[in-house]
Order: sequence, then C-alpha cells, then structure tokens
Amino acid sequence: MHNFDFDRLDVKIISERLASVPVDVCVFSEIDSTNNEAKRRALDGVDKPVLIISEKQSAGRGRMGRSFYSPEGTGLYMSLLLSVDGGFQNTVGITSAAAVAAVRAIRNVCGVETGIKWVNDIYFENKKIAGILAESFSVGERFFTVIGIGVNMYTTEFPEELYEIAGSIMAKKGSRSELAGAITEELVKLIYGLPNRDFMSEYRDSSIVLGKAVTFIENGQSFSGIAESISDDGALTVVLENGDKHVLKSGEISLRVKQR
Ligand code: BTN
Repeated sequence: MHNFDFDRLDVKIISERLASVPVDVCVFSEIDSTNNEAKRRALDGVDKPVLIISEKQSAGRGRMGRSFYSPEGTGLYMSLLLSVDGGFQNTVGITSAAAVAAVRAIRNVCGVETGIKWVNDIYFENKKIAGILAESFSVGERFFTVIGIGVNMYTTEFPEELYEIAGSIMAKKGSRSELAGAITEELVKLIYGLPNRDFMSEYRDSSIVLGKAVTFIENGQSFSGIAESISDDGALTVVLENGDKHVLKSGEISLRVKQR
C-alpha cells in the first residue's frame, strides 16, 4: 500500500521534468478547481504557459456540467493554461492529444497500461481512472485553452454514485509529481505537432470502444450499434443496427459489454 506522506506534490520534481518546456508551475494545497484558477490567471494576463496543480479541489468540474470528485492527496488534479495563436480552430484535437499524453505518461511513470473510452475518458480494469476537461475562451484579443486532467491514483473511497464507475491506478511506482511532469511534457510535445494528427493512430490503438457494441442518446432518442472507426479529427463512426452509419463529433457513448 502506498504511503501518501511520501507523495506530496513537489514543485521541484515537476519543474525538473519540465526543464526543456517553458511552463510556470504553481502548486496549491486546496483550490476550487484548477481549471478555474487557470482561467483567473488568463484574465490577469500571462505571457507563458502555466501548470496549476492542487492537492485537492473543493469544486472540481467534469464534462457536461458534472463535478469531479477530488479528495486530498490521492489524485492528481492539474490544468495547463496555454495561449493559442490564430484562433480556436487551432485547438481542434487537443482533447484527443491530452488523452494520448495521459496514456503515455501513465505507462512511462506508473508502468500501467490504460485505455481510452471515446471521447477522452481513461480506463483501467473496467473503471474510469481519469477524465479530461478542455475549455477554450478569449480574453480581449487573445485566445486561450485550459486542459484540465484529473487522475485517480490511490483513491479507494468514492461517493455512492461513482462506486460502479470509478477506479484508481493503484500503481506500485511513480509519484503524482512525476506523473504531472510527464503528462505536461507529453502534452506540450503533442500540441506542437497538433496539425499533423500523427498521434491519432496511437489514440486508436488505445481505444477501448473500436469494434465494440455501444449505445448513445441523440436528440432524446437512444441508438445502438458497433463503434467502427475514429477519424483523425476525433469523430466516431457507429454502424447502427439497421446498417446506417452515424458520425458522432462529440458527446458520450456507453459500452454495452464490459470494458477492458
Ligand atoms: C470528466 O471526466 O468529465 C472530466 C474531468 C476533469 C477533471 C479535471 S481535475 C483538474 C481539472 N480541474 C477541474 O475542475 N476539472 C479538471
């Protein structure tokens, strides 16, 4: 079992890992949401990427207006704030890149192989162990994106509604600081190469939905089919039970069989 006293967030370890990447690192003992803090930094005016990390979040946010359970010390809660040249069209694909960065970093630092459930949930042993919330906004004439990533590392107690869904990596090696540095490093590398979409073959290799029976709801109607392919721009094609193909650009699907 992990001894959490030896895994406090450590700015020095994170910054060392990021020596080749121009990122300011800010660690909090508690915050409402690291994504919120990143937005506040953007409003204050920043001239460099900023990585915000917290030991816990009192109002961690997930996709679709959900909350993200963020207890003290047992998870990694981080947000990377970047300014974007040329407008929001240049942020397309950033969440898929973040999922690939998380899978790579968890593999390298913790020695654990995870999978991606479209769009960008990270799964291990049939449970969601990480989520990504990317938000883009402008301040005056400047465009920003915040990539928020939450990883359950050693969380064992979850609220009742998450009990069936959420899990933790429970890795025998790798600290939260090392993982934060590694995810940021991978993410920055991928973002520099974003336009060429090379990383999408890695995304597909890590997908736990391709070839699987899935369901989704659109305009209040429920659909079932087989997840057939994921395009380089991240869209998922589902072959419906009547043979029609349905392309999903965003949203959420459920797997009808057990996840890897
Ligand atoms: C999801 O699974 O719906 C996305 C969860 C994203 C959670 C992370 S934790 C760090 C950052 N701060 C937040 O408030 N949310 C993201």
